[in-house]
Amino acid sequence: MFKPPFILSIAGGGSTYTPGIVKSLMVRLADFPLAEIRLYDIDGERQSVIAPVVEKVIRDHSQSIKFTVTTDPEVAFSGAHFVFAQMRVGQYKMREQDEKIPLRHGVVGQETCGPGGLAYGLRTILPMVELCDFVERYAHQKAWIVNYSNPAAIVAEGVRRLRPKARVLNICDMPVAAMRNMGAILGVDRHKLEVDYFGLNHFGWFTRVLVDGEDRLPELRRHIAKFGLLTEDAAQTDPQHSDPSWVKTWRHIKPIMDHFPQFLPNPYLQYYLMPNDIVEHQNPDYTRANEVMDGREKKLFAAAAEYKQTGILPDAFHVGVHGAFIVDVACSLAFDLRQRHLVIVENKGAIANLPYDAMVEVPAYITSEGPEPVRMGAVPLFHQTLLMQQLASEQLLVEATIEGSYEKALQAFTLNRTVPTMQHAKAILDDMIEANRDYWPQLQQAWKDGE
Ligand code: G6P
Ligand code: MN
Repeated sequence: MFKPPFILSIAGGGSTYTPGIVKSLMVRLADFPLAEIRLYDIDGERQSVIAPVVEKVIRDHSQSIKFTVTTDPEVAFSGAHFVFAQMRVGQYKMREQDEKIPLRHGVVGQETCGPGGLAYGLRTILPMVELCDFVERYAHQKAWIVNYSNPAAIVAEGVRRLRPKARVLNICDMPVAAMRNMGAILGVDRHKLEVDYFGLNHFGWFTRVLVDGEDRLPELRRHIAKFGLLTEDAAQTDPQHSDPSWVKTWRHIKPIMDHFPQFLPNPYLQYYLMPNDIVEHQNPDYTRANEVMDGREKKLFAAAAEYKQTGILPDAFHVGVHGAFIVDVACSLAFDLRQRHLVIVENKGAIANLPYDAMVEVPAYITSEGPEPVRMGAVPLFHQTLLMQQLASEQLLVEATIEGSYEKALQAFTLNRTVPTMQHAKAILDDMIEANRDYWPQLQQAWKDGE
């Protein structure tokens, strides 16, 4: 273990999430002391717009923390103790493609689920591996990468295959956001909930929600049957998940639990269990990427411009579970706190009837040497089958990336529950290869060779 204060690098420094994460770090400085924060991005121009906002957030809390902004990996990672990764390969422009291409074929358009998630995975695996290599080369020997980069399930599997020894902990804020809503419904602070959960990232279920040893899932079930996973007035949700599209997503927990009341689903299961509903209500010309570009991104850029002109920084970014969660996880890694969090780990029997080496999402105790998963036992046949199909789709996608195999990519798309036929899979994949020509040179070649 290394001693504080720490050097922390944020990979994907130009992200709209960076100011919120840094704000979360600032309010927790007593728990997680910092000597230096470094922003690293391959898009230096974008990062230089966000950086003054980040610097202001830091200076409002500390004069002593060194602040570095760079596009040079050596500068970014030399001696770093922690790396928070939140890369978005292809930025929102490519997210828009991930969402709109499947929709043109009547299939769910989502950045992490269905063909959109698979395409995003094809773009992200190798850059993520490159980041692991930079960290291995330059950072502290025991440095941890805490990774938010999506699609987390596929990224986790890709890194497990290609860099099995890398000290990467893959996380997602969706379960914590769901727990925040559960807490609001139950009138209990989310930190007081102890949950059991099994699945893959963006594909899992809560099986128990304990408060002081008592399972409150029955109460949540009754509430969800009326309102979905929102308080009655829908007012009490995390700011990051409060846009109208998110409100709708929280409400969709109701129809899913009306059909299958046993467990409480991850909201992303809406894309797999009710894809027709989703497609019917999606506007193919204006997807979530547009909503984010016109909302979160525009607001932050406008605030950065205003700050530059006036020296006053308007309130323009969310500080919610997203930032709080990554800081909690980092604290537990840094100080061997053994806190229990839902994270993405190698299964190793945690879910008895899923493959031993699958990357699953379960509760784990976070130690300074990494997560110790909690055993969730065997899961029912229905859930096991859904999980196996999704896992196979994601694993084939990883193999397609590593081998540059068109056929495996097509199998991955065909196996995904959101895709009705092999013809849909092919039509979508071929459009995606075209749209991703700057990112998938190998597949582009395999595709041409096959013509
Ligand atoms: C949730 C998920 C993240 C995802 C994010 C997208 O927080 O857990 O994995 O990246 O939503 O949010 P956005 O606001 O960009 O649609
Ligand atoms: Mn996520």
